[in-house]
Amino acid sequence: MKRALISGASSGIGEAFTLALVQEGYDCVVFARRESNLQDLKQRCEKIRENSCSYLVLDAREENTMDILENVIQDKQWTFDLVINNAGFGYIGDFKDMKESTIHDMIEVNVNFLTRLTYRMIPYMNQGGIFLQVSSLAGSMSGPYMNVYYATKNYVSAFSLACDIEFKSLGLRSLAFIPGPVHTEFGQVAKAGSLPIFKTIKSQDVTQAVKFALKGIQKRQRFIVSQPIHRVLLWCVKWLPQSWVAHIVANLQKKRTQ
Ligand SMILES: NC(=O)c1ccc[n+]([C@@H]2O[C@H](COP(=O)([O-])OP(=O)(O)OC[C@H]3O[C@@H](n4cnc5c(N)ncnc54)[C@H](OP(=O)(O)O)[C@@H]3O)[C@@H](O)[C@H]2O)c1
Repeated sequence: MKRALISGASSGIGEAFTLALVQEGYDCVVFARRESNLQDLKQRCEKIRENSCSYLVLDAREENTMDILENVIQDKQWTFDLVINNAGFGYIGDFKDMKESTIHDMIEVNVNFLTRLTYRMIPYMNQGGIFLQVSSLAGSMSGPYMNVYYATKNYVSAFSLACDIEFKSLGLRSLAFIPGPVHTEFGQVAKAGSLPIFKTIKSQDVTQAVKFALKGIQKRQRFIVSQPIHRVLLWCVKWLPQSWVAHIVANLQKKRTQ
């Protein structure tokens, strides 16, 4: 029996990953803050297969979260074949208008927690185990008016690649998942639903995005892009001057503040 650990499974991409992995025969250990959503997810998993989902109510911003998680893992003697570092959120708006607490929390969840979870889980990974680091198209460019979010995802993509090279000697992999806009609660949380950039790039169905990710995992792709058309976009981004790309993103995102 294979086992997966999934952060941020109470909605969106994490929830869809959990259901798809249970279908594929994995036992899933999931966590997030919203217990009612996790309870509901567990019930849906149980309908697919009994005892296929365990959940923990954890806040990635809390200092002791990692210790609580590790204690449970040790107690249950769990080991993992897949860790999906998915919990994350964004914020759209002028950097100067952001609350300092939002900046702190975003870096805490999107960067610090993801990094520490990877570090702490190494001893609990089975041979051939995979970390899937959920990044974004945003991880390949600077994003004025969604500034901190883009910066955190640049970190995730860079971190994932470096881990993948280092982990070769451990028999582990670290793959980055690069979704574009996907229909989830992300837009509401980031207040980005009506954002021109979200309309310019067509939002993908969450189960489709996860299907692409699982195919990418099978192929052990270092960067798993969730829509083929986005490969073209990323190719352009790679060859255009970074400042041009940032100005284009700024123009697309600034319209929402006008
Ligand atoms: N949707 C998109 O367009 C898109 C595009 C590119 C990348 N992504 C990335 O995909 C990942 C999942 O996002 P999504 O689209 O599925 O959005 P979502 O539906 O808002 O899901 C975000 C998940 O993260 C969890 N989370 C947030 N803060 C947390 C905290 N402090 N502690 C524990 N869990 C926390 C949420 O759970 P609780 O609120 O219950 O804690 C929720 O389960 C994120 O990393 C996001 O950056 C999304």
